[in-house]
Amino acid sequence: MQLPKAGTIEIAPSILSADFARLADEIAEVESAGVNMVHLDVMDGHFVPNITIGPPVIAKLRKCSKLVFDSHLMISEPDKYAEHFVEAGANHITFHIEAADDPVKLIEKLHKLGVTAGICLNPETPVEAIETIAPLCDMVLVMTVRPGFGAQQFMPEAAKKIAKIREILGPEIRIEVDGGIDPQTTPIVVSYGADTLVAGNAIFAKSDRIAAINAIRAACPVG
Ligand code: DX5
Ligand code: ZN
Repeated sequence: MQLPKAGTIEIAPSILSADFARLADEIAEVESAGVNMVHLDVMDGHFVPNITIGPPVIAKLRKCSKLVFDSHLMISEPDKYAEHFVEAGANHITFHIEAADDPVKLIEKLHKLGVTAGICLNPETPVEAIETIAPLCDMVLVMTVRPGFGAQQFMPEAAKKIAKIREILGPEIRIEVDGGIDPQTTPIVVSYGADTLVAGNAIFAKSDRIAAINAIRAACPVG
């Protein structure tokens, strides 16, 4: 289970809008739609004003799914906690530039632990904050809502940073986008250079999740 190499568009359903009492079934349903990864939103009530799941839940989910676990750590002190998520079975760990003490050291540590690493920037954080660190990552995550909740409105100004980051990174490093992604916003972010699309509400709020995933796929510009 590895982050797919750049060159494909991947949809990463975010469990934040799923039924937390039936997480394993919810993940199995999106797996049957042919996605390769699932986006696990980890919130600590400190870095963001909401609390979700931690390593014990991820460890149990690991036994139920072969999908790439794309873990988005919206937590303070990621340097201290990241390895617990690796032990639990996360395959890709994204932490926030705003929260990390030593981002370079943390990326190196994640690579040594055998997982891929990602850095994330909030809508207000300028590209300059990750310019030197981003090329060390396997994927850069651009927030197009303020982190903490699902079903918020897409922020078009924040999405524009994707184009700038793509220019810096070239084609080999994935750019993931998170917040308000649906069939309307998908063509915008893909045209800026995003190749990994997180979608929570646009998938899990729909009764037919497979149709919802296919609608996002169909909205991707061709070529
Ligand atoms: C928000 C989370 C997102 C969230 C996106 O803080 O990081 O992953 O689930 O939800 P939607 O797709 O509903 O905007
Ligand atoms: Zn997320």
